[in-house]
Amino acid sequence: MQEGELSVEAIQEGLNTSVVGRRVVYLSSTTSTMDEARREAEAGAPEGTVVVTEEQTGGRGRFQREWVSPVGASLLLSVLLRPALHQLPRLNMAATLAVVRTIRGVTGLSPRVKWPNDVLLGGRKTCGILIESRLEGEGVAYAAIGIGLNVNFDPGGYQEIAATATSLMRETGGPVSRLETLRGLLRELDELYAALGGAEWMHREWRGLLETLGSRVRVRWGDQSEEGVAVDVDRDGNLVLERADGSRVTLPAGEVSLLG
Ligand code: BTN
Repeated sequence: MQEGELSVEAIQEGLNTSVVGRRVVYLSSTTSTMDEARREAEAGAPEGTVVVTEEQTGGRGRFQREWVSPVGASLLLSVLLRPALHQLPRLNMAATLAVVRTIRGVTGLSPRVKWPNDVLLGGRKTCGILIESRLEGEGVAYAAIGIGLNVNFDPGGYQEIAATATSLMRETGGPVSRLETLRGLLRELDELYAALGGAEWMHREWRGLLETLGSRVRVRWGDQSEEGVAVDVDRDGNLVLERADGSRVTLPAGEVSLLG
C-alpha cells in the first residue's frame, strides 16, 4: 500500500506522544513541508505540529539543493518545535538519532551517519534532514525539522540521485510500511526531544554512528572549505577538524567529502 496509507487519523491513533504529533496536517501535495511548517508556526500552531505530504513541488535540501522524491513513495515531513535557544544546535542530533532508531526498529538494518545528518545504508543516503529556524529576541520563535526518508522507490531510476541514494525498499528487498515508519519516527523524536536538555548519552549514541570520524575529509560551506582529519564532534554536534599543521578548527555545518 502506498498512496492512501497515510491519514491524520491513522497517524495519530494511539500514538501516545507528549509533544510530537499532537497536531498533524496531512496534505496530498505542497511546495515544501518546510513552507507549511513556517506558516503553521507563524499562525501560532502548537509545538509538535507535524506537516506530512505525498508530494513536494519545491522540496528542498541543504545548500539550496532540490530534494527529489516521487509521489507517495517516501516520507516527507516537517516537525514544528520551539526549543530553548541553547538546545537548538542539538535538534540535529535528536532528529538524526530518531531516524536511525526508526529504521533499525522497522527494518532491522543498521544505518550509519555522515556528519552532520545524512543517514546512510550501505554507504548510500536514505534520509536527509534540514533544520530551519527563526530566532526572536533571546529565544527561538520556532524550529522546523524537515525529514525526507526514501521508503518505497528505487533511486536508481532518478538520474540526479542514482549514484548516491538508496531507499528502505531497495535495502530490504520489499515494500516497507510508511505508516508504521512514520509513527515510529514521531515516537522516537518525541522521546529524544524530551531528553534534549543535557543527555550525555544522546551525544555518545550519535557520535558512535558517525562514519566520518577518523577520516581525512574536506568540508565545504558556501565558497569556503577546510581540509583535515575529522577527530571529534562536540556536544553541540560541531565537527572538530585537525589540519595538516596540527591546528584544530570547529565547524558547525558543511558538506563532507572523504579524501583518499
Ligand atoms: C538534505 O539532505 O539536503 C536535507 C533534505 C531534507 C528534505 C526534507 S523532505 C521534507 C522537508 N521538506 C523539504 O522541502 N525538505 C525537507
